[in-house]
Amino acid sequence: MTHKIGIIGLGYVGLPLAVEFAKKYEVVGFDINESRINMLNSGHDTTLEVSDEKLQSVLNQKGVGLTLTSNATNIESCNTYIVTVPTLVDKNNRPNLTPLVKSSQTVGKLLKKGDLVIYESTVYPGVTEDECVPVLVKESGLKFNKDFFCGYSPERINPGDKEHTVANILKVTSGSTPEIGKIVDQLYASIITAGTHLAPTIKVAEASKVIENAQRDINIAFVNELAIIFNKLDIDTHDVLSAAATKWNFLHYKPGLVGGHCIGVDPFYLAQKAQEVGYHSELILTGRRLNDSMGEYVATEVLKLMVKNDLTVKKAKVLMLGITFKENCPDIRNTKAIDVYKVLKSFNINVDVFDPWVEPEQVEKEFGIQVIEKPTTVYDVIVHVVAHEKFKTLDFSTITSNKSIIYDVKGTLDPKLVDKRL
Ligand SMILES: NC(=O)c1ccc[n+]([C@@H]2O[C@H](COP(=O)([O-])OP(=O)(O)OC[C@H]3O[C@@H](n4cnc5c(N)ncnc54)[C@H](O)[C@@H]3O)[C@@H](O)[C@H]2O)c1
Repeated sequence: MTHKIGIIGLGYVGLPLAVEFAKKYEVVGFDINESRINMLNSGHDTTLEVSDEKLQSVLNQKGVGLTLTSNATNIESCNTYIVTVPTLVDKNNRPNLTPLVKSSQTVGKLLKKGDLVIYESTVYPGVTEDECVPVLVKESGLKFNKDFFCGYSPERINPGDKEHTVANILKVTSGSTPEIGKIVDQLYASIITAGTHLAPTIKVAEASKVIENAQRDINIAFVNELAIIFNKLDIDTHDVLSAAATKWNFLHYKPGLVGGHCIGVDPFYLAQKAQEVGYHSELILTGRRLNDSMGEYVATEVLKLMVKNDLTVKKAKVLMLGITFKENCPDIRNTKAIDVYKVLKSFNINVDVFDPWVEPEQVEKEFGIQVIEKPTTVYDVIVHVVAHEKFKTLDFSTITSNKSIIYDVKGTLDPKLVDKRL
């Protein structure tokens, strides 16, 4: 099969994948967000996952290369569709499959005999075959596993991580029949230098991805619980973890805020599916609850530290370092840093937010916060919320007095500088 690839959804996952495939295949990238397409066509990726140079090197070449469009009819000539749209939760943390259904409608309308549709979005087991395939069948009028086929291959990239990028992360693949599984696997193997793992079924591949994130969430919840206990005992959690990590089989997770669209969301997908089949998840949802409460916990710890140090809480000047959901990337989706901000503000504290990674307009639009360009004044309290590398070179002496306190959420600042760590 000669693949002409259409990628649907060009965000954190879709764009790097499209660029990687475009080095070897003819690829058309489609996104409903016209301004995103215009920006990418100008040669710049605002998520910073793909460098301008890399993007421009594959754009608008003849034959092999990447073409970008917000018009779905431009992907009609493709025979392999890869869907990388968001999988969100609603305000009650229930899976919202709308983008998957809508993109399946788009693809279904264009589907031809012999086509292959591969889903990459993180889902609970069963979404591809039980939710998406019926949409494809309805829209196309074609028969599944006779006229067209499906695959599922979850993405494992990690925003801001320049070491683990698409091609050098081993990729799980699967197909709707054993033969299609091999075709899907060969397709990915042609661009993934780290290799592939062909799972026996689509449901196995779907389940494997969602448990990777649930496992991480539960492990972080455990160390967050340890942090709460050790704070009460006045023992530094990071010191305890460093000591314990000298054992060969201790897993060195660190406490912190769990936000973003993966670890903080995907466990809800698994828990929802479990509930559907009559099992109420205990551990998975306990982990979620604990991690979701950490923003408020951090803010409370800061407030306690202020009182202990005779700092007046009302109208105090606090600097929050970082607002993104994790370090070294501009992604503010589902950031838990905002929970820290909201609690501090509710005590009438003046909070400045400094984050050299974000697009200020995006933070203003999302949270109504005007991030400062650079800290220039002396603060009563500095809360190091996100461990951006850039904060390591900040000159704290110019923005603190001998009364100021520094609280370090991620434990990455020099311990000598810091009054307390999570
Ligand atoms: N961000 C990550 O690091 C990461 C890692 C692994 C897996 N995932 C999973 O990959 C999937 C995509 O995540 P993301 O971070 O790339 O999301 P994103 O929000 O960055 O990008 C999704 C893109 O899809 C577009 N889109 C939405 N509906 C569409 C439709 N109907 N048709 C065409 N385009 C549409 C949006 O405009 C957006 O540009 C999710 O399921 C996520 O859980 C994400």
